[in-house]
Order: sequence, then structure tokens, then C-alpha cells
Amino acid sequence: MVNSHFIVAVLLVSFTCTTSIHSIWIGNVGFQNRTWAQAISLAKDFVSKLTLEEKCNMTGGVAGGCVGNVLPIPRLNFNGMCYQDSPSGVGDRVAHSTAFSAGIHIAATWDRNLGYQRAAAIGREFRGKGVHFALGPMMNMDRNARHGRDWEGFGADPYLSGENAFAYVQGVQDQGVVATAKHYICNEQETNRNPGFLARENRVNPNARIAYSANLDDKTMHEIYLWPFASSVAAGLGSIMCSYNQVNGTPACQNDKTLNGLLKGELQFPGNVMSDWGATKSGVESALGGLDIDMPRGGDFLGSAILPAVKNGSVSESRITDMIIRNMAPFYLLGQDEGFPQLDLDRDASGNNYIVNREVAAAGMILLKNTNNALPINPSTDNMVYVYGGAAGQSDEGYRSGASQQHIGALYQGGGSGFVDPAYGIDPLSSLMHKSRDNHVQIRYVTNQNDFGAINSSFHDRGFTGAKCLVFISAFSSEGADRHDLYSLDGGENLVQIVAANCPKTIVIVNSVAQLNLEPWIDHPNVVGVLWSGMPGQEYGPALADILFGDYNPGGKLVFTLAKKDTDFGTDISTTMVSEYTEGVFLDYRHFEQKDITPRYYFGFGLSYTTFTFSQLDISKSNNENKQSASAQYRQTRTRSYSNFGSSGLYDPVYEIKFTLTNTGKVNGSEVPQLYLGFPAEAQQPRKVLRGFDRVYLGPGQSKQVSLVLTQKDISYWNVVKQQWIVAPGDYTVWISTSANNADVKLQSSFHE
Ligand code: NOJ
Repeated sequence: MVNSHFIVAVLLVSFTCTTSIHSIWIGNVGFQNRTWAQAISLAKDFVSKLTLEEKCNMTGGVAGGCVGNVLPIPRLNFNGMCYQDSPSGVGDRVAHSTAFSAGIHIAATWDRNLGYQRAAAIGREFRGKGVHFALGPMMNMDRNARHGRDWEGFGADPYLSGENAFAYVQGVQDQGVVATAKHYICNEQETNRNPGFLARENRVNPNARIAYSANLDDKTMHEIYLWPFASSVAAGLGSIMCSYNQVNGTPACQNDKTLNGLLKGELQFPGNVMSDWGATKSGVESALGGLDIDMPRGGDFLGSAILPAVKNGSVSESRITDMIIRNMAPFYLLGQDEGFPQLDLDRDASGNNYIVNREVAAAGMILLKNTNNALPINPSTDNMVYVYGGAAGQSDEGYRSGASQQHIGALYQGGGSGFVDPAYGIDPLSSLMHKSRDNHVQIRYVTNQNDFGAINSSFHDRGFTGAKCLVFISAFSSEGADRHDLYSLDGGENLVQIVAANCPKTIVIVNSVAQLNLEPWIDHPNVVGVLWSGMPGQEYGPALADILFGDYNPGGKLVFTLAKKDTDFGTDISTTMVSEYTEGVFLDYRHFEQKDITPRYYFGFGLSYTTFTFSQLDISKSNNENKQSASAQYRQTRTRSYSNFGSSGLYDPVYEIKFTLTNTGKVNGSEVPQLYLGFPAEAQQPRKVLRGFDRVYLGPGQSKQVSLVLTQKDISYWNVVKQQWIVAPGDYTVWISTSANNADVKLQSSFHE
């Protein structure tokens, strides 16, 4: 049911226009959403009825049906709360879940509306199964290309991550489910993340249980790593998960500076801090350091174990009370005290979520190379298609998270707690069969990529001459381990080279968790097309086939740089117990530009089957009077009963940037104008940083005035002396571009502060 205060704007995007779901939803779907003040007051009332023992018990999780469970108090008609993975659907091996496209994939759509729609669909599944807290979104930065969990996050830029986090938090919370931003903070590698966690005795041996320390300065913390968490808090985030690692030498779950100082102090986060599973390293220090609940179980450190410390005065009762208020406030904030569905993790609550999942899958795919319009396949001239590679079909071990690595098949998501067992998964080969039938195209395939006899013999098939060859390669990674290298599974590079040596129209489909080294084959003259299919979720096949056959015009953009040499990234996994973030704010494209390194493909890059022009750039101060203004709409779409922008005005719109975008080609398509900002010297910024974007869908010949908004925070830098966001006086350059490559800048202007 659509409430009257919904604004539904339908934009026609796909070629056929039949699967378009580009509606903008504003507001919640009718649950009892409250303000934080109301929620806190209800939580205070609840806690006032608890004994000290009950309060202490509630500071630790308990065993139960979910991956994390909060103790029920039947006397108060409180049935407890369920915490469940993952950021990309309801995970932890439950039945009847949708495996949505991964975080890295939704980020690659650069489409806030789709981000919201995807999160709302995820939220509906969590709610439908009776889960109170969703353990997502994940927003650790893609600082290290080999990080095993990059696929769960939103890429390498803090602004882009922040915008994705914002849409996710509101999409999920508008369904009455609490979002949990994780992993707070600076959890950018798996190596040494929690040594000794598995050995219970190590929980009391401080030397064995301590993880690596991410060491960084205050400016870098604020401008890069804290940014997406701050956006989440502004969105109205209910919960946050502290991470396994240490930050500047103190474990993240007892880090007074990051938890009490930055999060609860500076950002004024009113919700709860839960530990990552087994990330609590102490009792008293954690309670005092800002942790509110030890997951998955109290007992060693918090829960009943903290009672003696309260009795002997090491931890005040008021701190314990505060912990429970924070744990309960999100529950009341989103009206979970009224009519929340009973827990049944295997209940099918997927509704028609496949529609948004398929749309996101297609929207996040990125066309990297398309020599002489090799794509889309034109059935009247390309009526023979050859498919190579295990990654085109189903894994022979089903959908198990770890199975993908040994039993190569199409990857819908990466592995670990972020993995969702898909209710079904449609592989590319199956969908290509359907398209081939509809378009009278003949299809041949070899999915055993080590069967070189079959591969070589295919080159001599009747009809091979003139065929288009689709080569599928993939790269998998998982929580718990970082990648060994940036190459594909099972010799994928070799497969591309063999096919390209024989097929003049070779198109490579890259099904990868994160960065991949394309150098062994990218310059081969027979590699005429490259489509980055990313981590697209269980609707992979239909989405990909639509793009390959031109039923959907690709428009995704890279959310990280693809380097020519792995060392070009300048940052990597640390194998010692310390990871020094010495690059400071010069991460990814900021680093490549600073060091003048030409990458293979720039951050923000992606091609289309159509072309665009940009014109009439206009910069003006925000217009808050006119309700139709970009600033007013910006505020309206982002405001909820529970949003939490604070009183500092940091999230107030201060500039409107307008320009006209025109689709000058022959087919429908989308472009992503990207606003890069250059700061005065005082701000000590990289040459340019991303501060705005929009994904704009246009029919052939159609034009649109695009409006981007800059907030006060967007034009500020973190002044470490004043401990404030400051606007440096001077000239600011605005570049409207289609990637971080300066050669892609379309419009340029400036403003003065
Ligand atoms: C550990 C992971 O780091 C975290 O992301 C997840 O939510 C918990 N385990 C629960 O499975």
C-alpha cells in the first residue's frame, strides 16, 4: 500500500520500458516511527522497571534462534530481539532469502533511488522474517584491493560510501527494521583481525587475543573513514557494530576516543554499539569505553559478568542504565513494540523483490571496453555466440558460500557472514539460452575451462568464423581471509588469452568481488569488449543477458580505480600487527592523481551504448524559500521522524549546481555526472574530491536539467587544531565529469567563499 505522502516518479529507463521501477519513495511504509526523543523516553521507562541483575544481563547477548539474540523479559511482555546478518539480504544460511546484489554492486549503480529501493526490499525481508536488527550496511573503505570483504562495502570513496550508507539506513529503517552500520572503525583487512578468537582461553589471555592496529591521524579519520558512518548517523541509524581491530593501539570495542569521543560525542549517536562477534576484549574497559552490548554472548566480559564491577563501583549503575536505554531505543524508535512479526527465519518474505534485484543487477554492471560497438549483440549480424568459462554456469556444488572458490561457477555474492544463500540463482548461460531462442541466435559453450581439447576444438566448429565469443572469468573472496592476488579463479587470464588468440570478437565478462588485474589480456586487439558484471546477486543471468543483447543499456561506473600494476594502489594488507594509514587522505583516485600514475581505468569510469553532452553550468547559493528548489527537495527526501542531522548545520544545503544533460545517441540510456571539488590550499585536500553525483536516465534526444546540492560539510575540511569542520576562505573549483580522469571533465566553474 502506498501512502499518500509518497511521491512516485516513474522514469522510463530500459529500452522496453517494461521493467522500469525507478520510483522515488519518500517516507516510511506506515509503521509507527518515532523521534529519538520519544524512543529514548520509552526506553527509559522500560529500564526503570528492571532490576540491576536484569540490566547487567541485558548487556550481553544470549543463545537463541538468530545469530545474535537479546534476552527476553516476559514479565514486561518483552520477547527479546533478533539480530541477523547480512548487508545484502537475510543471511546465516536461512531458507527463502533473496541474495541481493552486493554493496560494491549497488554502489556501482551510482543511483540513490535504486539504493533506497534495494534497501527497502532487504528491509521487507528482514521484517517479514521477524528480525529486529539487520547487521548491515557495511561501509569499511576499499583501502586494500585484496581485502576479503571489499565486496560487502561501497568502494573507495567516502562520499560515495556515505551516500550509499544513507540510502541503505533509511530504506531498511523505513520498513521498521534497525540498520547496523559496520564495522566501526578502520576494519580494512582480514589478516590478523582477531587472532585467537576461536580459542576460548584466549579470551582471557590479553596477548593472544589482540588484533592488528589501524593507525591513522585525526584528519584522515574524519575525512575518509568516519565520513560514511557520520552519514549513517545523520540518516537516523539505530545501531553500530564495533570492529575486531584496534585503532591507534586500543581495541575498537573499548576505544574511548572512537566510541565515546567521535561517535557518541561529536556525532551525537543516540543508538547502541554492539561488538562484532567476539570482538569484546574486556569488561570494565569496554563498558567505560562505550560498548553497549557484547555479542554474541555476555558471560566472559559483559552480561552477568559485569555485575561484580558494578557492585564494587568500577562501572556505575548509570552507565549500565545508559547501555540498556541505547539498546532499547532503536526498538521503540521504529515501533517494534507494536505488531512486529513473530520470528521465523525461514519464512518466505521475498514478495516481488526479484524485480528490484534484477534492476540493480543490471544497473551496477559496467561497460569498460567496447571497440567499434562490439556490444550489444546484434542478432541480425551476430547469430553465433560461443560461451567459455566456468563462471558462465552453475557451480557444481550449489550455492554454498565457500563452494565458489573450488567449484567455479557464476558468483552471486562473496563469502562469509555477508553471504546470503540464494533461494535460487540464475546463471548467465541459462539466461543467454533464453535470449538465443528469442533472437534466433545459435549458442555453443565450454564451461570446463581446463578442458583445452574441447576449447580448441570449438574454434574449428562449423559456424565459428564470425562468432562472438563471451569469456567469463571470476574472482571470489570471503570474510576471514584476504585475497592472495588480484587475478581471477582457475586460470581465467589464460582462458581469455586462448580464446582471444582464436576469436577476433572476444568479449570478457568480469564477475569479480573487487579490483582485478586486467593487464594480461586487456590490450589484446581481439578483446573488443569488457563488461564488469560485479557481484550482482541471484538475478545475475537475466540482468547480464539484457545488457549483452541491448535490452538494457549499461550505465554503471567503477567505485575504485583499476590499476595497471598492483603496487600502483599505494596501500595494501599489512602482515604485521600494525597497519599504518600513512597515505592519509590520498586514497584510490586521490593517490593516483597525487603521484601522477595513469591507471588502466579511472574511478567513476563506465561506458554506455549511447552518448551524452553537457551544457549550461550554473552555480548558485541554496534557495531554501522555493519549495521546488533542489535544496528543498534534498531536505524533503532525506528527512524522517528518526533522522539525526544535529544542530551544527553540517548537512544543510549551501550550493546548487545546475547543468543540462542531453542524450545525443539513438537509444535510451543513463549517465552519471560526477561533481569533483577543488579546495583552497588551506584545506590540504587532494587536487579534487568527489562531492556530488546523480544517475540520470534519458531517452534518445532527451535533455534534462540536473541539480546537484553541496552541503556545508561537502565544502568543509576537518581542522585538527580547532577540532571542527571549517570552510576555508578562497576559490573552489567545480568540475562536472564522467570519471576521475581529468580528460573526462565536461564542465568547469568556481565559487568563492
Ligand atoms: C562477524 C562479522 O565480522 C560481522 O560482519 C557479522 O555481522 C558477525 N560475524 C555475525 O555473523
